[in-house]
Parts: sequence; C-alpha cells; structure tokens
Amino acid sequence: MSATPVTYGGSRRPPRGDYSLARDDYTCDQNWDLYTPQQHELYARLYARQLRLVDGRACDEFLKALAHLDMGARIPRFEDVCERLARATGWRIVAVPGLIPEDAFFRLLSQRRFPVTVWLRTPEEFDYIVEPDLFHDLFGHVPLLFDPVFADYMQAYGEGGLKAQRRHALELLARLYWYTVEFGLIDTARGLRVYGAGILSSPGELQRSLVDPAALRIGFDLRRVLRTAYEIDDFQKTYFVIDGFAQLFQQTAQDFTPIYEQLLPLPPFTPDRAQSGDRVLPASASSC
Ligand code: PHE
Ligand code: FE
Repeated sequence: MSATPVTYGGSRRPPRGDYSLARDDYTCDQNWDLYTPQQHELYARLYARQLRLVDGRACDEFLKALAHLDMGARIPRFEDVCERLARATGWRIVAVPGLIPEDAFFRLLSQRRFPVTVWLRTPEEFDYIVEPDLFHDLFGHVPLLFDPVFADYMQAYGEGGLKAQRRHALELLARLYWYTVEFGLIDTARGLRVYGAGILSSPGELQRSLVDPAALRIGFDLRRVLRTAYEIDDFQKTYFVIDGFAQLFQQTAQDFTPIYEQLLPLPPFTPDRAQSGDRVLPASASSC
C-alpha cells in the first residue's frame, strides 16, 4: 500500500473510500461487479432526476454529450465510457478511491486522464453530499470532456497546477477551477447556461444558479477570479460567466507567473459582493 487517504476540506471527517488498493498514482480498479443492485438503482434515480433538470439549464455541449453517452440505466463500466471518450478527444477516465492529493490530480489531468471516484453516495445523501462521489464525477465532469476546447482547457489546467505548486500559488489557481470547472456559467445566444460540474450534479444549485436574484453573476475576468475566495458548504454567492470555452482557453493561455506575483500579496475578495469594474449580468428570467 502506498496511497495515503485524503479527506475533504481538511476537516476532521474520516476519509471516504478504500485507499488500500490504490496504485502510486492513486488510480485503482473500479471493481464494477461489487456494486449492489441497490446502488445501481440509486444511481439510476440520481441520473433520472438530474436529467430532467439539466434541460434548458445546461449548455448545449454538455447536453449533446450526455444524450450520446446514455449512461443512466445503471452505474456504467468506466472502461466503456473511457473508450468512447478516448475516441472523441483523447481523454481517458481512470478510477480512484476518492479524493486524491493535488499533485496526483494535476498530473493525471496533464496526461488527459480524469479521475472518477468509485464509490456512490448513500441513499441518505440523495439530495446533498459534501464530497465528490461517482455520480458527481461522472455526470458532472465527464460529458464536457467530449468538447475539444474544454478538453484542452482541462489538460492546460493540470499543467498549470504543477506549475502553480512550484510558485506557491495553488490557492489562487484552485479558485479558477472552482469558478469554472465546478461552478461556471456560460452566456449563450439563448441565455445563460450552466457548465460547472458542481452545479450540474446538484439539484438545488441547478435550479437556482441561473435565476436566484440573491446571487451575483459576473463576467469572467482572470485576475478577478484568481482573487476571489470561495465557500464549499453552501450555494455559491458569486458565479463567473464566460462567453464560450474558446474565451476561457485563450484568457488562461498566458503565463500566470507575473499574475501570481501581483496577486499573492493582496487580500482575497469575498464572494458576497461585487467589486468596482465588475460586469454584473442579470439573472435569467425564471421559467417555472
Ligand atoms: N497559463 C497558465 C500558467 O502559465 C496555466 C493554466 C492554463 C492554468 C489553463 C489554468 C488553466 O500558469
Ligand atoms: Fe468536481
């Protein structure tokens, strides 16, 4: 055994997942045969609920890939999903026991390998779960890896993570992941849509993020995002809105070293208020 268990949020919560069988790079086998009929059924219920909610809320790139993947009947075999993904964008998915350390995570992303947690939440956690589980990882993250531009962004992020570690700027870079990959919104010709996995896999946040008048929606600005602290245990108070994945990719292609140097000494912004210079966007009109 070489993999040390990882806990969420640095709290005293015990680690979830069995790390004893993980390899040095934290990948493990999915052991698909060990899922119980109850777990397949719980997954199918989670999937069906979320599938109804993403319509009209998730971005087209996500919806298209999700429909094509058709992985709602039972917990998929990662190999099957992986094969189709590899054909589309060269990304693979690998099984992991749960959360993994940052450097292992960045290394996998830089190799176009996305880690998916093997365990599924319990029925008691149907509505809310703190840590990412199989459903969050698979439903929330994997469909967008079929989009070529987003796929390249994720790989660049992994490489950027390894570099940010050397610059002691992980806290800044983690905010970029949070406000894009996990909680990002995108402005489309048909209105605001969701692309962040943390929203896409959450029934409550999916229904609120586009319409809640109490939340802020701010046009994406790299320095603003890197400087904004986030909260992990409540609905987000600020969302950042991109115009498209090309904009996201282009704005993050520059060397972050001077930006880190500029921002590291500055205090972070809190997510509960707008700053001067923000482009604040209106909420979508509620459709229900
Ligand atoms: N361009 C960034 C750097 O030089 C790396 C990066 C790319 C980070 C894409 C995040 C997303 O550090
Ligand atoms: Fe996630």
